[in-house]
Amino acid sequence: MRMIDIIEKKRDGFELTKEEIDFVIQGYTNGEIPDYQMSAFAMAIYFQDMTQEERVNLTLAMVESGDQIDLSGIAGVKVDKHSTGGVGDTTTLILAPLVASVGVPVAKMSGRGLGHTGGTVDKLESIKGFRVELDSKTFNELVNKNKVAVVGQSGNLTPADKKLYGLRDVTATVDSIPLIASSIMSKKIASGADAIVLDVKTGSGAFMKDIEGAKELAQAMVQIGNGAGRKTIAVISDMNQPLGYAIGNALEVKEAIDTLQGKGPKDLQELCLTLGSRMVYLGEQAESIEEAREKLIDVMNSGKAIDTFKTFLDAQGGDVSVVDDPNKLPKAAYTFEIEAKQSGYISEITANEIGIAASILGAGRVTKESEIDLAVGLVLNKKVGEAVQKGESLVTIHSNREDVQEVVDKIYHSYTISSEKVDQNPLVYDVIY
Ligand code: URA
Ligand code: CA
Repeated sequence: MRMIDIIEKKRDGFELTKEEIDFVIQGYTNGEIPDYQMSAFAMAIYFQDMTQEERVNLTLAMVESGDQIDLSGIAGVKVDKHSTGGVGDTTTLILAPLVASVGVPVAKMSGRGLGHTGGTVDKLESIKGFRVELDSKTFNELVNKNKVAVVGQSGNLTPADKKLYGLRDVTATVDSIPLIASSIMSKKIASGADAIVLDVKTGSGAFMKDIEGAKELAQAMVQIGNGAGRKTIAVISDMNQPLGYAIGNALEVKEAIDTLQGKGPKDLQELCLTLGSRMVYLGEQAESIEEAREKLIDVMNSGKAIDTFKTFLDAQGGDVSVVDDPNKLPKAAYTFEIEAKQSGYISEITANEIGIAASILGAGRVTKESEIDLAVGLVLNKKVGEAVQKGESLVTIHSNREDVQEVVDKIYHSYTISSEKVDQNPLVYDVIY
């Protein structure tokens, strides 16, 4: 086989065989196929798209390009959850102990990563003593015993995707449904999940700005997952404003603790129930989505969910007393209130700008090497649709620096106050099976 013939075949709109796709991914991973040919190939896919079968084969080829996590030593259907990323998204921290409380094993591998705030691992590390470096034997034992454990990323998962994603980034080929969908799904499948629930965000703070694009991506990922033998469901949710109130690492841990006890922000709780009930259903711990949802509400109200969170923290060395006394979490030196300049109704909070404001404070990483300040961030006191009086606080800034002018400017810029009450966007637009 020759790479040039495969590029030409895709360029002209023909369907590639499994053997051809394997040849490309193996050759690219081991360095035999150069970046310039792979760039041309990615661009051909960008214009010609891929059939469902090609997408599944591309995904599986990337899965096979590196290590795969073996979760077969863990009893039950292992369900993973993935979000395409938003601002102030605390759902993983809540969902892991929540669904574990009703018997779904959660073997979560989580990253630090770049972003407006840290990844789930960073957030958990704001709890004193918490360790994410677990060997695979301990990890499996903990999930079998407690139904939940979180481990930091290790091993050489999907090297083909790492290399290709880097190349797409500089060749204007990121924005392609088959390439995005196979990239995301290859990582989930290599992580060993039996079933997958996807949270595909849409809106100003999301990767997919419009609903049509989000739907198309969700459908592509669900088809790949099911085609690869992993039951997959996607929820399309709103990211036109941040989720919940808190944006920041320790601040989001506190918000997660509240939500696990049924005292969290309404939108965050609702999204957790929407995603969590699908996880419980796929994990075969309920006969229907409705039954799953009721079970989750029960464990929030009975205290079982927060007890599972405590057991999980304790098992990984974390200071459990923060749950009853969140004041023990890292705390910023200063707080500032951002007051509304006029009365009216909040009509818009651009999530993206709020995210950038949080990262300016130090809540997120700018480069892979930068240090995160776990204590800092923002707490929204007003969300879209709420009434506000001039002088009332829109946002509380938690900062370790006194000069926060740039952050203040960003916050004012992201909030729009109108004289008429506006309708809120729905939280969930669609569910794709
Ligand atoms: N996230 C990924 O992991 N891959 C993509 O291609 C785009 C977003
Ligand atoms: Ca939040």
